[in-house]
Amino acid sequence: MVDFMMHFPKGFLWGTATAAHQVEGGNTNNQWYEWETTGPGHVFQNQQSGLACDWWGGRYREDFDRAVEMHNNAHRFSVEWSRIEPEPGQFDETALECYAQMVAALHERQLEPMITLHHFTNPLWIEKAGGWTNPETIQHFDRFVRRVVQALGNNVKFWCTINEPMVYATQSYLLGRFPPGRHDLGQTMRVVEHMLRAHALVYRGIKEIQPNAQVGFAKHQISLKPRFPAWVNTPARNYVRNFFNYAFVEALMSGVLRLPTRKIRVPDVRDTLDWIGLNYYYRFVVSFNLLMPRSLFLQQTRPRDGIQGPGDTGEIWPEGLFEHIEWLCKTTGKPLYITENGVPDPDDSLRPLHLIRSLRSVWQAINHNYPVKGYFVWTLLDNFEWAEGYDPRFKFGLYACDPASQERTKRRSADLYGEICAANALTADMIRRYVPDLADQLLPGIETQPEVNLPPR
Ligand code: BGC
Repeated sequence: MVDFMMHFPKGFLWGTATAAHQVEGGNTNNQWYEWETTGPGHVFQNQQSGLACDWWGGRYREDFDRAVEMHNNAHRFSVEWSRIEPEPGQFDETALECYAQMVAALHERQLEPMITLHHFTNPLWIEKAGGWTNPETIQHFDRFVRRVVQALGNNVKFWCTINEPMVYATQSYLLGRFPPGRHDLGQTMRVVEHMLRAHALVYRGIKEIQPNAQVGFAKHQISLKPRFPAWVNTPARNYVRNFFNYAFVEALMSGVLRLPTRKIRVPDVRDTLDWIGLNYYYRFVVSFNLLMPRSLFLQQTRPRDGIQGPGDTGEIWPEGLFEHIEWLCKTTGKPLYITENGVPDPDDSLRPLHLIRSLRSVWQAINHNYPVKGYFVWTLLDNFEWAEGYDPRFKFGLYACDPASQERTKRRSADLYGEICAANALTADMIRRYVPDLADQLLPGIETQPEVNLPPR
């Protein structure tokens, strides 16, 4: 049988990603806590994040051990602004010390830390003052980031300024699914602009304190196709793509932020990227719908074929990674990290295939010479999934985690991921063992059938 190996470059970062509010537990001073406790209807079954994965109680240590068992060499996590700066200008040294210990725990395990500085949550005092619709938040964020970098910078090289600014802006201010639950196009655009300016400002702040830091941000990209007939719906697809996928990144390159409502000159934001992060999950079908004025007459649905995600998520189409890597690398000219990629899959029936197809796509991009430097699975263990709370359908972890008992259970994908990380490669043998029925399709052009002895002529 012919063997086949998809090798990854030397020094490739293999890890998982988490976010403070989703794993720490006991975060009661941010806008998400307020949202959870002021439902009804804000979170699935009015659940609250509660103890989450109890990382603030110290369980991150055992979970980092799990990352080591999977032969990871990196971990991406976020620090919680509302813990570090509970009141304007008042910094909590104990909270900073806890994060310093987390960083130390990673180093002890040879895991390279990547720290996200904003992952959806704001301290209540920021939210009360208008959150990211208020331009003053930019300066406040800068002061917070400087404090964090002063405290942790000696031991952290990779900084991710903001997680998914377009998701934050649209979910919070257009679609109303995140706090403060608004449907306001003007505010959405303001938030995008302020986050863009904040990214650039803190990029410079971090470099001032730590010139050799590697600073980027995580961009969520969605794959999009126009609904039939394409000649009618392609403009709708382009509209969503240009706004959601392109505008923020293009602004960093050109100094012009092209929003659907207006164009804003932002020359100062140029040259503020050392790397670009890609978060990728779903593909959607886009069309015009005159009955949907609230979403600018644009409708996003799921393709009828393909693997469907739960709820109103899209189609699970791992091969989309290639197009996003290609576009982001070509547009920015920077190294790229897949800062999140994963699938909601409680019984782990899809995850091995998802992981294999995703990494095949990443490998393909690497072979086109796109500088992909690392891959972080979303996520290490099941956690608080924002508006989906602890909905049993939305389990993204390589490990299951029961928030009530705090019991962790390894899913089979964790073994597969461990094998891949250990080998720094995805091999035909792994594919045959983890998805035996699909091996032939996944290894095109490779003879995987047993040899047949033809009868003599
Ligand atoms: C977010 C994560 C979230 C994941 C799965 C990403 O967009 O950054 O916080 O848990 O999607 O929905």
